[in-house]
Amino acid sequence: MSEMNRGLLQQFPEQFSFTPVIQNRNSIPLQPVSVVLGGMGGSQFGGSFLRLIEPSTDVLIHRDYGVPAYGQKSTDTLFVASSYSGNTEEVLDFAARAYDKKYPLAAITGGGALRSFALERELPLIEIQKSSIPPRAAIGMQTIALAALLNKKQVLADLQSLTDTLSAQRIEEEGRALAQTLLKKIPLIYTSARNATLGYYWKIAMNESGKIPAFSNVLPEADHNEIEGFDGVGPVPPSSFHALFIRDPADHPRIRRRMDETADLFTKRGVSMSMLDIAGSTGAERYFGSAYQALATALMLAEGYGNESLATPLIDELKRRLGKGGGTMGGA
Ligand code: PA5
Repeated sequence: MSEMNRGLLQQFPEQFSFTPVIQNRNSIPLQPVSVVLGGMGGSQFGGSFLRLIEPSTDVLIHRDYGVPAYGQKSTDTLFVASSYSGNTEEVLDFAARAYDKKYPLAAITGGGALRSFALERELPLIEIQKSSIPPRAAIGMQTIALAALLNKKQVLADLQSLTDTLSAQRIEEEGRALAQTLLKKIPLIYTSARNATLGYYWKIAMNESGKIPAFSNVLPEADHNEIEGFDGVGPVPPSSFHALFIRDPADHPRIRRRMDETADLFTKRGVSMSMLDIAGSTGAERYFGSAYQALATALMLAEGYGNESLATPLIDELKRRLGKGGGTMGGA
Protein backbone atom coordinates (compact mmCIF):
# COMPACT_ATOMS: atom_id res chain seq x y z
CA MET A 1 0.00 0.00 0.00
CA SER A 2 1.28 3.52 -0.78
CA GLU A 3 2.60 5.63 2.09
CA MET A 4 -0.19 8.15 1.56
CA ASN A 5 -2.96 5.55 1.78
CA ARG A 6 -1.33 3.82 4.73
CA GLY A 7 -1.04 7.18 6.51
CA LEU A 8 -4.73 7.78 5.88
CA LEU A 9 -5.63 4.39 7.35
CA GLN A 10 -3.49 5.10 10.39
CA GLN A 11 -5.15 8.45 11.00
CA PHE A 12 -8.67 6.99 10.97
CA PRO A 13 -8.51 5.52 14.52
CA GLU A 14 -6.61 8.58 15.81
CA GLN A 15 -9.54 10.90 15.08
CA PHE A 16 -11.57 9.24 17.86
CA SER A 17 -9.36 10.91 20.46
CA PHE A 18 -10.80 14.26 19.31
CA THR A 19 -12.03 16.33 22.27
CA PRO A 20 -14.76 18.67 21.05
CA VAL A 21 -15.10 22.18 22.46
CA ILE A 22 -18.50 23.84 22.12
CA GLN A 23 -18.17 27.57 21.55
CA ASN A 24 -21.23 29.74 22.38
CA ARG A 25 -22.93 26.73 23.91
CA ASN A 26 -25.58 28.72 25.80
CA SER A 27 -27.74 29.31 22.75
CA ILE A 28 -28.66 25.64 22.15
CA PRO A 29 -31.68 23.95 23.76
CA LEU A 30 -30.34 21.79 26.58
CA GLN A 31 -32.10 18.62 25.45
CA PRO A 32 -33.13 18.90 21.77
CA VAL A 33 -35.71 16.23 20.97
CA SER A 34 -34.77 16.11 17.33
CA VAL A 35 -32.05 17.27 14.96
CA VAL A 36 -32.04 18.34 11.34
CA LEU A 37 -28.49 18.05 10.06
CA GLY A 38 -27.60 19.82 6.82
CA GLY A 39 -24.54 18.17 5.29
CA MET A 40 -23.35 16.87 1.94
CA GLY A 41 -21.10 13.95 1.01
CA GLY A 42 -18.70 13.00 3.80
CA SER A 43 -20.07 15.71 6.10
CA GLN A 44 -23.50 14.13 6.50
CA PHE A 45 -22.19 11.02 8.25
CA GLY A 46 -21.94 12.50 11.75
CA GLY A 47 -25.73 12.49 11.83
CA SER A 48 -26.31 9.17 10.14
CA PHE A 49 -23.67 7.26 12.14
CA LEU A 50 -25.01 8.69 15.39
CA ARG A 51 -28.43 7.36 14.39
CA LEU A 52 -26.89 3.97 13.56
CA ILE A 53 -25.27 3.72 16.99
CA GLU A 54 -28.33 5.02 18.80
CA PRO A 55 -31.37 4.37 16.58
CA SER A 56 -33.70 6.23 18.97
CA THR A 57 -31.94 9.52 18.14
CA ASP A 58 -34.26 11.56 15.95
CA VAL A 59 -31.89 12.90 13.26
CA LEU A 60 -33.05 13.92 9.83
CA ILE A 61 -30.29 14.36 7.25
CA HIS A 62 -30.99 17.23 4.87
CA ARG A 63 -28.86 16.86 1.72
CA ASP A 64 -30.11 19.83 -0.23
CA TYR A 65 -30.35 23.61 -0.38
CA GLY A 66 -32.70 25.36 2.05
CA VAL A 67 -34.39 23.64 4.99
CA PRO A 68 -37.02 20.88 4.98
CA ALA A 69 -40.33 22.15 3.57
CA TYR A 70 -42.24 21.22 6.73
CA GLY A 71 -39.99 23.55 8.72
CA GLN A 72 -39.36 22.93 12.38
CA LYS A 73 -40.96 19.80 13.89
CA SER A 74 -40.96 21.32 17.38
CA THR A 75 -39.33 24.20 19.22
CA ASP A 76 -36.84 21.62 20.55
CA THR A 77 -35.53 20.76 17.09
CA LEU A 78 -31.90 21.72 16.67
CA PHE A 79 -30.58 22.53 13.19
CA VAL A 80 -26.94 21.61 12.67
CA ALA A 81 -24.96 22.78 9.64
CA SER A 82 -22.07 20.39 9.02
CA SER A 83 -19.28 20.98 6.52
CA TYR A 84 -15.67 19.87 6.79
CA SER A 85 -14.42 22.64 4.50
CA GLY A 86 -17.05 25.12 5.65
CA ASN A 87 -17.50 26.18 2.04
CA THR A 88 -20.13 23.78 0.70
CA GLU A 89 -22.83 25.93 -0.86
CA GLU A 90 -25.81 23.69 -0.05
CA VAL A 91 -24.82 23.70 3.64
CA LEU A 92 -24.22 27.45 3.69
CA ASP A 93 -27.67 27.91 2.20
CA PHE A 94 -29.16 25.56 4.82
CA ALA A 95 -27.49 27.57 7.60
CA ALA A 96 -28.64 30.91 6.18
CA ARG A 97 -32.25 29.74 5.77
CA ALA A 98 -32.39 28.18 9.25
CA TYR A 99 -30.93 31.38 10.74
CA ASP A 100 -33.43 33.58 8.84
CA LYS A 101 -36.26 31.47 10.22
CA LYS A 102 -34.82 31.84 13.74
CA TYR A 103 -34.46 28.08 14.22
CA PRO A 104 -31.96 26.99 16.90
CA LEU A 105 -28.81 26.52 14.85
CA ALA A 106 -25.34 25.11 15.51
CA ALA A 107 -22.37 24.45 13.23
CA ILE A 108 -19.75 21.72 12.93
CA THR A 109 -16.91 22.66 10.63
CA GLY A 110 -13.21 22.70 9.94
CA GLY A 111 -13.27 26.38 8.93
CA GLY A 112 -14.26 28.39 5.85
CA ALA A 113 -17.37 30.52 5.44
CA LEU A 114 -19.45 28.39 7.81
CA ARG A 115 -17.04 29.06 10.68
CA SER A 116 -17.18 32.83 10.02
CA PHE A 117 -20.99 32.69 9.73
CA ALA A 118 -21.27 30.94 13.10
CA LEU A 119 -18.74 33.15 14.88
CA GLU A 120 -20.29 36.40 13.60
CA ARG A 121 -23.71 35.33 14.88
CA GLU A 122 -22.41 33.74 18.09
CA LEU A 123 -23.94 30.39 17.19
CA PRO A 124 -22.89 27.20 18.97
CA LEU A 125 -19.89 25.95 17.06
CA ILE A 126 -17.62 22.91 17.18
CA GLU A 127 -14.46 23.22 15.15
CA ILE A 128 -13.16 19.89 13.92
CA GLN A 129 -9.46 19.52 13.27
CA LYS A 130 -8.76 19.69 9.57
CA SER A 131 -5.93 17.35 8.68
CA SER A 132 -4.76 15.39 5.69
CA ILE A 133 -7.76 13.02 5.87
CA PRO A 134 -10.62 13.88 3.51
CA PRO A 135 -14.14 14.62 4.83
CA ARG A 136 -15.39 11.11 4.00
CA ALA A 137 -12.74 9.68 6.34
CA ALA A 138 -13.36 12.26 9.08
CA ILE A 139 -16.68 10.66 10.10
CA GLY A 140 -15.47 9.86 13.62
CA MET A 141 -14.75 13.51 14.45
CA GLN A 142 -18.08 14.56 12.96
CA THR A 143 -20.00 12.00 15.01
CA ILE A 144 -18.14 12.96 18.18
CA ALA A 145 -18.96 16.62 17.53
CA LEU A 146 -22.68 15.91 17.13
CA ALA A 147 -22.77 13.58 20.16
CA ALA A 148 -21.16 16.39 22.18
CA LEU A 149 -23.76 18.92 21.00
CA LEU A 150 -26.49 16.50 22.07
CA ASN A 151 -24.69 15.71 25.33
CA LYS A 152 -24.64 11.94 24.67
CA LYS A 153 -22.08 10.86 27.21
CA GLN A 154 -22.20 7.08 26.70
CA VAL A 155 -21.94 7.41 22.93
CA LEU A 156 -18.97 9.74 23.39
CA ALA A 157 -17.24 7.24 25.67
CA ASP A 158 -17.86 4.40 23.18
CA LEU A 159 -16.55 6.51 20.30
CA GLN A 160 -13.48 7.69 22.16
CA SER A 161 -12.48 4.08 22.96
CA LEU A 162 -12.17 3.31 19.24
CA THR A 163 -8.71 4.89 19.04
CA ASP A 164 -7.45 1.78 20.86
CA THR A 165 -9.71 -0.89 19.36
CA LEU A 166 -9.47 -0.18 15.61
CA SER A 167 -6.34 -1.73 14.15
CA ALA A 168 -4.78 -0.22 11.02
CA GLN A 169 -2.72 -3.34 10.33
CA ARG A 170 -5.67 -5.73 10.48
CA ILE A 171 -7.87 -3.46 8.39
CA GLU A 172 -5.22 -3.12 5.69
CA GLU A 173 -5.10 -6.91 5.36
CA GLU A 174 -8.89 -7.21 5.26
CA GLY A 175 -9.12 -4.42 2.71
CA ARG A 176 -6.49 -6.04 0.51
CA ALA A 177 -8.30 -9.40 0.53
CA LEU A 178 -11.69 -7.90 -0.24
CA ALA A 179 -10.30 -5.64 -2.96
CA GLN A 180 -8.86 -8.70 -4.69
CA THR A 181 -12.34 -10.23 -4.77
CA LEU A 182 -13.88 -7.03 -6.07
CA LEU A 183 -11.31 -6.13 -8.68
CA LYS A 184 -12.81 -5.88 -12.20
CA LYS A 185 -16.34 -6.04 -10.77
CA ILE A 186 -18.95 -3.40 -10.05
CA PRO A 187 -19.76 -3.62 -6.33
CA LEU A 188 -23.41 -3.85 -5.28
CA ILE A 189 -23.70 -3.34 -1.54
CA TYR A 190 -26.71 -4.64 0.36
CA THR A 191 -27.60 -3.98 3.99
CA SER A 192 -30.74 -4.09 6.06
CA ALA A 193 -32.88 -0.94 5.83
CA ARG A 194 -31.76 0.07 9.33
CA ASN A 195 -28.15 0.04 8.06
CA ALA A 196 -28.80 1.90 4.80
CA THR A 197 -26.30 4.57 5.84
CA LEU A 198 -23.57 1.99 6.25
CA GLY A 199 -24.20 0.59 2.77
CA TYR A 200 -24.19 4.13 1.42
CA TYR A 201 -20.87 4.75 3.16
CA TRP A 202 -19.37 1.68 1.44
CA LYS A 203 -20.70 2.96 -1.86
CA ILE A 204 -19.33 6.49 -1.56
CA ALA A 205 -15.96 5.21 -0.29
CA MET A 206 -15.63 3.15 -3.47
CA ASN A 207 -16.84 6.05 -5.64
CA GLU A 208 -14.76 8.85 -4.14
CA SER A 209 -11.68 7.04 -2.86
CA GLY A 210 -11.68 4.01 -5.19
CA LYS A 211 -12.81 6.06 -8.23
CA ILE A 212 -15.11 3.30 -9.48
CA PRO A 213 -18.87 2.99 -9.91
CA ALA A 214 -20.58 1.20 -6.99
CA PHE A 215 -24.18 1.03 -5.85
CA SER A 216 -25.99 0.33 -2.59
CA ASN A 217 -29.49 -0.81 -1.77
CA VAL A 218 -31.35 -2.33 1.17
CA LEU A 219 -33.27 -5.49 1.93
CA PRO A 220 -36.15 -6.21 1.97
CA GLU A 221 -36.87 -3.49 -0.64
CA ALA A 222 -34.36 -4.73 -3.26
CA ASP A 223 -35.98 -8.19 -3.10
CA HIS A 224 -39.15 -6.61 -4.46
CA ASN A 225 -37.62 -5.09 -7.58
CA GLU A 226 -33.84 -4.73 -8.05
CA ILE A 227 -33.02 -8.45 -8.08
CA GLU A 228 -35.23 -8.95 -11.15
CA GLY A 229 -32.76 -6.80 -13.10
CA PHE A 230 -30.30 -9.70 -13.00
CA ASP A 231 -32.67 -12.22 -14.57
CA GLY A 232 -32.83 -11.05 -18.16
CA VAL A 233 -30.63 -10.21 -21.09
CA GLY A 234 -29.16 -6.80 -20.41
CA PRO A 235 -26.39 -4.41 -21.46
CA VAL A 236 -23.71 -6.05 -19.29
CA PRO A 237 -23.42 -9.67 -18.12
CA PRO A 238 -24.31 -10.47 -14.48
CA SER A 239 -20.68 -11.56 -13.99
CA SER A 240 -19.72 -7.85 -14.16
CA PHE A 241 -21.15 -7.40 -10.66
CA HIS A 242 -20.20 -8.51 -7.17
CA ALA A 243 -22.84 -8.38 -4.44
CA LEU A 244 -21.57 -7.62 -0.95
CA PHE A 245 -24.08 -8.42 1.81
CA ILE A 246 -23.29 -6.68 5.09
CA ARG A 247 -24.75 -8.72 7.94
CA ASP A 248 -25.41 -7.22 11.34
CA PRO A 249 -26.31 -9.28 14.44
CA ALA A 250 -28.88 -6.54 15.16
CA ASP A 251 -30.76 -7.26 11.90
CA HIS A 252 -34.22 -8.86 11.91
CA PRO A 253 -33.89 -12.67 11.49
CA ARG A 254 -35.90 -12.55 8.25
CA ILE A 255 -33.35 -10.09 6.83
CA ARG A 256 -30.61 -12.64 7.47
CA ARG A 257 -32.68 -15.28 5.72
CA ARG A 258 -33.35 -12.90 2.84
CA MET A 259 -29.63 -12.19 2.47
CA ASP A 260 -28.87 -15.93 2.26
CA GLU A 261 -31.61 -16.63 -0.29
CA THR A 262 -30.90 -13.52 -2.39
CA ALA A 263 -27.18 -14.38 -2.44
CA ASP A 264 -27.98 -17.92 -3.57
CA LEU A 265 -30.25 -16.71 -6.37
CA PHE A 266 -27.60 -14.19 -7.45
CA THR A 267 -24.94 -16.91 -7.58
CA LYS A 268 -27.20 -19.07 -9.75
CA ARG A 269 -27.58 -16.16 -12.17
CA GLY A 270 -23.85 -15.47 -12.38
CA VAL A 271 -23.52 -12.54 -9.95
CA SER A 272 -20.65 -13.34 -7.57
CA MET A 273 -21.17 -12.51 -3.92
CA SER A 274 -19.60 -12.22 -0.45
CA MET A 275 -21.06 -12.06 3.04
CA LEU A 276 -19.47 -9.60 5.45
CA ASP A 277 -20.28 -9.92 9.13
CA ILE A 278 -19.89 -6.82 11.21
CA ALA A 279 -18.70 -7.47 14.74
CA GLY A 280 -17.90 -5.60 17.90
CA SER A 281 -19.05 -5.25 21.48
CA THR A 282 -20.65 -1.82 20.94
CA GLY A 283 -22.56 -0.23 18.08
CA ALA A 284 -19.70 2.24 17.70
CA GLU A 285 -17.24 -0.61 17.20
CA ARG A 286 -19.50 -2.46 14.76
CA TYR A 287 -20.42 0.46 12.51
CA PHE A 288 -17.16 2.36 12.52
CA GLY A 289 -15.27 -0.95 12.19
CA SER A 290 -17.27 -1.64 9.03
CA ALA A 291 -16.77 1.92 7.73
CA TYR A 292 -13.03 1.52 8.32
CA GLN A 293 -13.09 -1.70 6.32
CA ALA A 294 -14.94 0.14 3.53
CA LEU A 295 -12.24 2.78 3.44
CA ALA A 296 -9.41 0.22 3.42
CA THR A 297 -11.11 -1.73 0.62
CA ALA A 298 -11.67 1.44 -1.41
CA LEU A 299 -8.02 2.48 -1.01
CA MET A 300 -6.82 -0.96 -2.08
CA LEU A 301 -9.19 -0.86 -5.06
CA ALA A 302 -7.81 2.55 -6.03
CA GLU A 303 -4.32 1.05 -5.95
CA GLY A 304 -5.48 -2.02 -7.87
CA TYR A 305 -6.71 0.18 -10.71
CA GLY A 306 -3.86 2.70 -10.43
CA ASN A 307 -6.21 5.47 -9.26
CA GLU A 308 -5.33 8.30 -6.90
CA SER A 309 -7.53 8.06 -3.79
CA LEU A 310 -7.37 11.38 -1.99
CA ALA A 311 -8.05 14.14 -4.51
CA THR A 312 -11.50 14.42 -6.11
CA PRO A 313 -10.73 16.31 -9.35
CA LEU A 314 -14.06 15.65 -11.05
CA ILE A 315 -16.02 16.92 -8.03
CA ASP A 316 -13.72 19.94 -7.84
CA GLU A 317 -14.20 20.64 -11.54
CA LEU A 318 -17.96 20.52 -11.12
CA LYS A 319 -17.77 22.90 -8.16
CA ARG A 320 -15.65 25.27 -10.26
CA ARG A 321 -18.14 25.11 -13.13
CA LEU A 322 -20.96 25.93 -10.73
CA GLY A 323 -18.99 28.98 -9.72
CA LYS A 324 -19.26 28.68 -5.94
CA GLY A 325 -17.94 26.52 -3.10
CA GLY A 326 -15.00 25.12 -5.08
CA GLY A 327 -11.81 23.75 -3.57
CA THR A 328 -9.90 20.57 -3.18
CA MET A 329 -10.49 17.40 -1.16
CA GLY A 330 -14.23 17.91 -1.30
CA GLY A 331 -14.30 21.63 -0.89
CA ALA A 332 -11.50 21.87 1.68
O1 PA5 B 1 -15.53 13.40 1.10
C1 PA5 B 1 -15.57 14.34 0.32
O2 PA5 B 1 -14.53 14.91 -0.09
C2 PA5 B 1 -16.91 14.94 -0.15
O3 PA5 B 1 -17.91 13.96 -0.08
C3 PA5 B 1 -17.28 16.17 0.69
O4 PA5 B 1 -17.58 15.79 2.00
C4 PA5 B 1 -18.46 16.92 0.05
O5 PA5 B 1 -18.12 17.40 -1.22
C5 PA5 B 1 -18.89 18.13 0.92
O6 PA5 B 1 -17.79 18.94 1.26
P1 PA5 B 1 -17.56 19.33 2.79
O7 PA5 B 1 -17.46 18.04 3.55
O8 PA5 B 1 -16.31 20.10 2.80
O9 PA5 B 1 -18.77 20.12 3.18
